[in-house]
Amino acid sequence: MRLILLGAPGAGKGTQAKKLSKKYGIPKISTGDILREAMQKGTALGLKAKSYMDSGQLVPDDVVIGIVEEKLKDKDCVKGWVLDGFPRTLQQAQALDRILTGIRTSIGHVLNFEVDEEKIIKRISGRRSCESCQSAYHIYFNLPKKDGVCDSCGGRLIQRNDDKEETVRERLKVYQEKTQPLVNYYSERSLLKKIEADDDIENVFTRICSFVL
Ligand code: AP5
Repeated sequence: MRLILLGAPGAGKGTQAKKLSKKYGIPKISTGDILREAMQKGTALGLKAKSYMDSGQLVPDDVVIGIVEEKLKDKDCVKGWVLDGFPRTLQQAQALDRILTGIRTSIGHVLNFEVDEEKIIKRISGRRSCESCQSAYHIYFNLPKKDGVCDSCGGRLIQRNDDKEETVRERLKVYQEKTQPLVNYYSERSLLKKIEADDDIENVFTRICSFVL
């Protein structure tokens, strides 16, 4: 199973990537999570990414391509993988093709999450994320068992820096400009499947599982 999850910020990619990873026992590679973890640890990568992420811009292509290439070459990825938040530009998509050819594998499906923009703003403004393991919750749609505490690791739930409405609108603009063209890129290669993601989390998951099997 080799999946790419494509879709606007807040479309539910991270939520579904986690469920797919657990159900099928394959690693999820979430570039946003990797970059946030690096920021939290104050590594060179984190320092480089911070100003881009805080302002809703994309981190430079060479930085994220390097991260994903290293992960995909890991032996954990032999069984398959879920890419969440990568690729996000044409350059990243072309680099991914080169990396996969180099390791003699290919993309299985590209799932394009479709959700109305106003719903996205509502989803993101209510999101709370675990500061340790990055699991996403929602104050209405996806509550943790204990208020403010992550079900998976017991970490503290916080609001992401880039989840302020103004930054979210910028992220949506960047998405339209830089990432939306990938819908055609993958559609022309007959890899794209539309996912009606404007539904509750379990229904979206059932829909995805029926597509990818
Ligand atoms: P990243 O972390 O990838 O953010 P994103 O793509 O903007 O996506 P989000 O994490 O906001 O949303 P999601 O689709 O995962 O939704 P979620 O499941 O959390 O990237 C952040 C930044 O990092 C970028 O702006 C950029 O700077 C940098 N970056 C990352 N990758 C990069 C790359 N490849 N190139 C360059 N820069 C890169 O769900 C959202 C909320 O809704 C949650 O609260 C959830 O509980 C809830 N929810 C989920 N599904 C449903 C549902 N079906 N119904 C109701 N609520 C739901």
